[in-house]
Amino acid sequence: MLFVIAVEFFLTCIRFAYHIVIAIIYSILPRKAKNVEGDIVLITGAANGIGKIVAKKFADLNATLVLWDIDKKANENVAREIEVMGKRAYAYTVDVTQKESVYKVANRVKMEVGDVNILINNAGIVSGKKLLDCDDDMIIRTMEVNMISHFWTVKAFLPAMLENNEGHIVTIASAAGLLGVSQLVDYSASKHGAIGFDESLRHELTDMHSGINTTVVCPYYTDTGLFYGCKSRFPKILPILEPEYVASCIVDAILQNQHILFVPKILSIFIFLKTILPTSAFIVLGKFFGGFTFMDNFQGRAKKNFNRKF
Ligand SMILES: NC(=O)c1ccc[n+]([C@@H]2O[C@H](COP(=O)([O-])OP(=O)(O)OC[C@H]3O[C@@H](n4cnc5c(N)ncnc54)[C@H](O)[C@@H]3O)[C@@H](O)[C@H]2O)c1
Repeated sequence: MLFVIAVEFFLTCIRFAYHIVIAIIYSILPRKAKNVEGDIVLITGAANGIGKIVAKKFADLNATLVLWDIDKKANENVAREIEVMGKRAYAYTVDVTQKESVYKVANRVKMEVGDVNILINNAGIVSGKKLLDCDDDMIIRTMEVNMISHFWTVKAFLPAMLENNEGHIVTIASAAGLLGVSQLVDYSASKHGAIGFDESLRHELTDMHSGINTTVVCPYYTDTGLFYGCKSRFPKILPILEPEYVASCIVDAILQNQHILFVPKILSIFIFLKTILPTSAFIVLGKFFGGFTFMDNFQGRAKKNFNRKF
C-alpha cells in the first residue's frame, strides 16, 4: 500500500512539474491558436456590448454564429450585420433564466444549425444598488441571469459535446467574481458563483478525460454601458477598458484553450494580495484604489438618455 502511494506521489510530482514547465513556456510563447472555421459558436447576450463584438470576431474567423438574447431587435440586427459580412448567423430570442425555454430553443438550434462547439455564457445584468436598497426580485434576477442560467445552457449543450468528445464552455464572469465590491453585493455574489461553476465543471470534465475545454474570463470594468457612470480612481493604472480590447482578449484566450483570463493582467496581483494579506489590510488597499467609491456615480443601462455605443 505504502509502495503504491509512493509511486503515485512520484508520478504526481512529475505531472505537476510538467504542467508548471508548460505554463511557463506558454506564458513566453503563445500557444498555437485553434482553427474554428466551420465551428458553431453560441453566445448568450450577443445583442450588445462584449457579446456582440465577440460574435463578429468569430464570424471573421469563419465560424457559424448562434446568437441568443432577450433583446430581439438588437439581436436580429447583429445577425444581419454578420450576414452582410458574408458569414452565417442565426438569431434566437431567449430569456436565459427560463429553463424550459433554454432547453426548447437548444433543441431547435441542434436541428436547425447543428451541434454547438463553443458555448459562451455571456449574458449579464447589474442592479448597482446597496444590498438593503436592492429589490428582492432584482437580486433573484441577477443570480439567475449571471449564474443559474449557466446550469441550463451547459446541461443543454454538454451532452452533445461529450458524445463528440470535443467542445469548449466559456464563462464570462468578472473581476468582481474574485474581489468583493461595495454596492455590487448581488452582482459580485453571482460572479463568484459563475467562477465556482467553471472551476468545478473543469475538474469534473478533467476527471472524465473528456476533450472539452473551459475558459473563465474576469474582466475589469468595460465601457459597454452596463456600468455607465462609474469612474476609476486611478485610470492610468486601472483604466475603464475598451470593449473591443476585452473582446479580442476573450477570443485569443478561447483560441488558445486558456483556462482563466484576467483583463487586465494586473488584476492577478490584487487577487494574490487578497489571499496573503490580512483582510483589514486588504480593505485599506481596496479603499485607496477606489473600490469603495467606484459605484458612486453608477447609472448603468437604465439611464434614459444613454446612447448605446455597441
Ligand atoms: N461591462 C463591464 O464592465 C463588465 C465587466 C466585467 C464583466 N462583464 C460581464 O460581461 C458580460 C457582458 O457584459 P456587457 O458589458 O457586454 O453588457 P451588455 O449590457 O452590453 O450586454 C449584455 C447582454 O445580455 C443580454 N441579457 C440580459 N439579460 C438577459 C437574459 N435574461 N437572457 C438573454 N440575454 C440577456 C442583454 O440584452 C445584453 O444584450 C456580462 O456577463 C457582464 O457581467 C462586464
